[in-house]
Amino acid sequence: MKIIMLGAPGAGKGTQAKLIAEKYQIPHISTGDIFRANIKEGTDLGMEAKEYMDKGQLVPDELTVRILLDRVSKDDCKRGYVLDGFPRTIPQAEVLDNEVAKLGDKIDFAIDVDVPDENIIRRMSGRRCCPKCGATYHIEHIPPKKEGVCDVCGSELIIRDDDKPETVKSRLDVYHKQTQPLIDHYSKLNILRTVDGTQDMQDVFDAIVKHLEA
Ligand code: AP5
Ligand code: MG
Repeated sequence: MKIIMLGAPGAGKGTQAKLIAEKYQIPHISTGDIFRANIKEGTDLGMEAKEYMDKGQLVPDELTVRILLDRVSKDDCKRGYVLDGFPRTIPQAEVLDNEVAKLGDKIDFAIDVDVPDENIIRRMSGRRCCPKCGATYHIEHIPPKKEGVCDVCGSELIIRDDDKPETVKSRLDVYHKQTQPLIDHYSKLNILRTVDGTQDMQDVFDAIVKHLEA
């Protein structure tokens, strides 16, 4: 099964993608996570991506596409994958559609996790992430058992660099201009499924599974 997660920054794409990956035993591929891992390791790629990410802008298509295509060509992607944060522009979507078609295959679903802008800013300010294992929490909605500490690996939780309110605002602007057109793109291909992302995490997941298994 090949699945794309769409939705504004902070809509819960990563949270839901992890649950989907676990249930269907397919890899969860987040371009944002790949960039953050590179920043942490201090690679050239990471340094280049950081310049854009810190401003809330998109990393250029050429770079992002190269990384994504490399990742989905790995053996563990043969049974499918859930893409989180890619594609984010029409050119990215076209490259992906073509690559998948070359393998005689297709994307099965594009899931739009729909959350209005007003809710987003609040969500981002409460997000806490584990820099070691990537687990994500929310101080009000999905708190860790012990404040500031990751349930999974015990590391100290951090606030993401791009979760400052000013940066969140530019990420939202970029989303509306460059990524929202993808909703139309996948709707025309008849694979768009929209879920209400303002519900509880488990209810959002149940709604997604219903679509995937309909
Ligand atoms: P990326 O890492 O993809 O960030 P994003 O799209 O801005 O999305 P987020 O990760 O912030 O949010 P999410 O939807 O995953 O929400 P989450 O599950 O964490 O990209 C970062 C940057 O990298 C971009 O700005 C860009 O510069 C670059 N980049 C990445 N991909 C690119 C591409 N393809 N092209 C170009 N550039 C690219 O949830 C958010 C919070 O809400 C958490 O605290 C969570 O616990 C909580 N939460 C989740 N679900 C619920 C719920 N149902 N109820 C209450 N709280 C919830
Ligand atoms: Mg994410």
